[in-house]
Amino acid sequence: MMQVLSFAFQRAVLALGVFLLAAGAAQAAYKAPPKPEMPEKGDYWLGEEVYKEICFSCHGLKGDGKGPNWKASYPRPQVFTSPLMKRMTDEYVFAVVKYGKMNVLKEKMNGFKLKLSRPTAMPSFGEVLEDAQIRKLIAWERGFTTGKQPNDPEMKEIFEAACIQCHGKTGLGNGERPVGSQDPNKPFVSEIQPPPMNYHLKEQMERFDDKFLFWLIKVGRIDVSEQVNYNYMQAYGHVLKDEEIWGVVRYVREAFINGKPRTKK
Ligand code: HEC
Ligand code: HEC
Repeated sequence: MMQVLSFAFQRAVLALGVFLLAAGAAQAAYKAPPKPEMPEKGDYWLGEEVYKEICFSCHGLKGDGKGPNWKASYPRPQVFTSPLMKRMTDEYVFAVVKYGKMNVLKEKMNGFKLKLSRPTAMPSFGEVLEDAQIRKLIAWERGFTTGKQPNDPEMKEIFEAACIQCHGKTGLGNGERPVGSQDPNKPFVSEIQPPPMNYHLKEQMERFDDKFLFWLIKVGRIDVSEQVNYNYMQAYGHVLKDEEIWGVVRYVREAFINGKPRTKK
């Protein structure tokens, strides 16, 4: 009974919140109702404040991944203006900020569930690939970015056997697993989160040096941080309220991913 009551109470508070938000929106004459690709939750302006207080130091005021501290982090911070970000769901972004990326990859999210999929960390291949093969594979993959791919039948074979189910036949990050049941003709949101890398995106591949990629492929995304000590996105759930995190999700989505920052009148 208590639970039913408190649920009803929460609903009422929510409804009131929506009403107040709507009233606020009308007053400030914000344009248009949110588009479907935008998060339903989250206050843009609150999100902007949080972003400019915390996130900008690594991810940059322009969302280009080059804030004042960007060089202190390996791999470099995520580039929010990159097309890769369109494949990330709002729930994933929320979870990464609240629980930290490692906990999300290990599904330690205190009961929070991603709607679209289970998180999938980049796997390890140290048991099936020699170190020399990993190095050659990195050079071969970097060829997608530069357009100058070494003619290396062995790497092509390894890539097709081990990598394309996630990274796609031509390294676009659109393999069977991330595309899943989605219409291939529409822009897709990856069914595995985080979305597998699209090697054609220069701004993404520049976030990594060869040493990081070597260890990533050898031991996988979780152990590259836990055993080899590379960085990952930390948790902010202890400093930020859910409301502030949803705000920042909305701000990042609109201002950087969609490239449409709002202007205050
Ligand atoms: C100390 C630097 C730092 C700060 C501050 C920081 N981040 Fe990050 N963030 C990173 C790094 C590094 C990555 C890349 C992690 C990776 O590639 O595994 C990242 C990745 C992300 C991602 C993408 C996750 C993925 O799988 O690529 C999101 C979303 C994100 N950060 C949001 C935020 C938000 C929102 C804030 C502010 C509340 C913030 N970050 C503050 C360093 C930071
Ligand atoms: C089960 C799916 C899956 C398979 C199979 C897979 N990857 Fe990945 N890969 C990912 C995901 C997911 C990411 C994004 C990692 C992140 O953001 O934490 C990634 C990222 C990468 C990156 C970019 C670095 C980064 O942190 O984003 C490289 C390089 C890479 N993978 C290489 C490979 C190679 C080489 C193979 C085959 C030997 C392979 N991957 C197989 C899922 C996969």
